[in-house]
Amino acid sequence: MTTSAKSLELSGSQSAPHLREDLLTPRFYTTEIEKAARTSLDEQRPAFEAMLGEMEADYNRNHFDRKAPLDRLGSLKPEEKVAYESYLVRSCVSEFSGFLLFKELSRRLIKSGRPDLGRMFQLMARDEARHAGFLGRALKAEGISLDLPNLSGKRPVTWFPLSWVLYSVYLSEKIGYWRYILIDRHLKANPENSFAPLFDFFEPWCQDENRHGDIFNMLIRCWPRIRSGFRGKLLSRFFLWSVFLTHSLTVCERGEFYQLLGMEPSLFDEEVMRKTNDTSRHAFPWVFDLDSSDRYMELRDQLVDTFRDIKNADGLIAKLGLQSRFASLLVRQFFQPMVPCVESVE
Ligand SMILES: [Fe+2]
Ligand SMILES: [Fe+2]
Repeated sequence: MTTSAKSLELSGSQSAPHLREDLLTPRFYTTEIEKAARTSLDEQRPAFEAMLGEMEADYNRNHFDRKAPLDRLGSLKPEEKVAYESYLVRSCVSEFSGFLLFKELSRRLIKSGRPDLGRMFQLMARDEARHAGFLGRALKAEGISLDLPNLSGKRPVTWFPLSWVLYSVYLSEKIGYWRYILIDRHLKANPENSFAPLFDFFEPWCQDENRHGDIFNMLIRCWPRIRSGFRGKLLSRFFLWSVFLTHSLTVCERGEFYQLLGMEPSLFDEEVMRKTNDTSRHAFPWVFDLDSSDRYMELRDQLVDTFRDIKNADGLIAKLGLQSRFASLLVRQFFQPMVPCVESVE
């Protein structure tokens, strides 16, 4: 991954609010479409048809009202405004990245003679386009226009093998579900912190992400070999660890947005990880053992602190020392104990 410091393509009355492209910026992806077209639905046909029926029913058809006003309710200090806008841009790019991947998969699967799978991806692309569009409208209310089609054409597209896409998209849908629902629950309990009408839309929104995650769980089951043996354990370990790490660095290190909502970033991050890890028991052969010890979270704290120190370090020697500490913490966290998932044993 590159760490170039190019600003996102923004237009409008305002310049980019500290939005640099780096390791933590959402990416655009593509995969082995020919292989995806060979997905055998034989075993999963009843589950597939049930899910397709739910997607066609389109429960959220009227939820994302294009006319609903999304102007902020309260005024924010300049640094708070930056935190809110950065959150919106990041979320919008991430939703749009999902839209592009699903749209491309849909188009090429239909072309490869798989209208069934193509239709499913088309319906998921529909949802992600709505999500990105809604976030885009909230940004517009802030005076910022994101030129998404142009942005996607200019940024590199990362290629992933199909198994990686299945694991990572499953996780990003489920972690997205937990993020939206936990913010929603917090704001319902603390309505004085809900400073933007956008948050009122999160509950049915997160159900879209939950459904997408279930569809990816079903797709993972169509490829039993990616869930078995050493490969299944390695894929589970790598994707849980990397998705959690990205989440921790984003939430804890750029925690201003969550503080603005009256949340403690590290507690929010921990709860999202625990819930996502538990949910993944239904899909992955292994998950991290987060219940027997606090070691995983302790390493998370040390990683976040070291990441912050690297950014503030003066001098090459100090930076190199911190980077090697960061690398050793990464390795230790990566190898934390896992537990097999009874439900997913075939
Ligand atoms: Fe989404
Ligand atoms: Fe989604």
